[in-house]
Amino acid sequence: MKIGIIGAGNLGTGLARQLVKQNHAVMLSIIRDPAKLEKTARSLGTRSGTPDEAAAFGDVIVLATPWTVTAEALRQAEPVSGNKILWDCTNALKPDMSGLMISTTTSGGEEVAKLAPWARVIKAIPPFAEVLKSPKTLAGGARPAVFVCGDDPQARKVVVGLAEDIGGAAVDAGPLILARYTEPACMLLVSLAYVRGFGARIGLALLRDSA
Ligand SMILES: NC(=O)c1ccc[n+]([C@@H]2O[C@H](COP(=O)([O-])OP(=O)(O)OC[C@H]3O[C@@H](n4cnc5c(N)ncnc54)[C@H](OP(=O)(O)O)[C@@H]3O)[C@@H](O)[C@H]2O)c1
Repeated sequence: MKIGIIGAGNLGTGLARQLVKQNHAVMLSIIRDPAKLEKTARSLGTRSGTPDEAAAFGDVIVLATPWTVTAEALRQAEPVSGNKILWDCTNALKPDMSGLMISTTTSGGEEVAKLAPWARVIKAIPPFAEVLKSPKTLAGGARPAVFVCGDDPQARKVVVGLAEDIGGAAVDAGPLILARYTEPACMLLVSLAYVRGFGARIGLALLRDSA
């Protein structure tokens, strides 16, 4: 599958590394200085470009930007044609990580859908980049859950597959409105990792009765 990533920081590059391993064709892009990206892209085996080039390239566009620059990133991705899937990986974190800028009465995913009416938006926050480096070694081999929310079942299925490809245990959680609850769960993880000092090698798991 062709995947364009907007945001080449810790998460964008971590996702790119795993997706390339699974034989996806990836284009990485950043907002400020595309030239800076070339070296990283070469080392990861991806293409590099501007947000609009990445959006044109991908069947799936991955949004991996700090929340505060997400609107600008989406603006730079336009125009986008073709009813593409937009995989929103952002956390609407306050810059000091003390909480979420929005939650429960709306969600980052729903706000992204308003900013990108051209896309089928799927909200699925991946495991921490530190976990993506070697996802198989958490808790004796348990994979971290990735909750996948979106209103288009076919698009959800695609992102479920990609979330599995990066080493997650994808949970098809249903409509985008459920992001109001999955996003705060990820905020809990951020707090545990960076405020409580658990470190970033942690993840969530959904335990289900297998009977
Ligand atoms: N890191 C994780 O483990 C993780 C896990 C799950 C979700 N997330 C979410 O994923 C998103 C990205 O996180 P990250 O850790 O990858 O962030 P990051 O390392 O700070 O990088 C994000 C990207 O955004 C660009 N950027 C940063 N500030 C900018 C600005 N003011 N204007 C324009 N571009 C700017 C950076 O480009 P430059 O190179 O030009 O600075 C970089 O390409 C966030 O919403 C985060 O909450 C992160």
